[in-house]
Amino acid sequence: MKKLIIPSVVVFCLVIIFSCKEKSADETVVKKEAVPLENVITVLPDSTGYKVFESNCRICHSLRYIQMQPNFSRKNWEKIVDKMRKNFGAPIDSINAKIVVDYLCKIKGQVATH
Ligand code: HEC
Repeated sequence: MKKLIIPSVVVFCLVIIFSCKEKSADETVVKKEAVPLENVITVLPDSTGYKVFESNCRICHSLRYIQMQPNFSRKNWEKIVDKMRKNFGAPIDSINAKIVVDYLCKIKGQVATH
């Protein structure tokens, strides 16, 4: 009889440990659904350069990031596009980067005051 006590205690502990583990794993399951970028609606003007802008600037985030910005000077837009390329690795060559900056200045630019 004594011989049976130790194995049954071990089995009992294992059952408790495994049932606890399963429970906590269940509780931590969080359902996340990504919103496809093309479903994020933006209302930016379709003027010259829009296609280049859209195809290059919607790779990592929605165009709402741009829509949310205030009007900036050319220098500021250049800095932002530069940051996307150099810091975040946006694959845009310098010719397209200029087209994008021109477009951004047109739709969200500042009139030079000097
Ligand atoms: C390689 C990925 C990538 C591409 C491509 C990209 N961005 Fe971004 N962009 C980011 C990341 C990452 C952030 C968030 C930065 C943060 O939270 O500070 C961001 C943020 C922004 C912001 C928010 C303000 C800021 O300065 O952080 C603007 C505006 C923006 N991007 C504009 C653009 C434009 C314009 C283009 C196209 C030329 C572009 N992005 C392409 C990665 C990218």
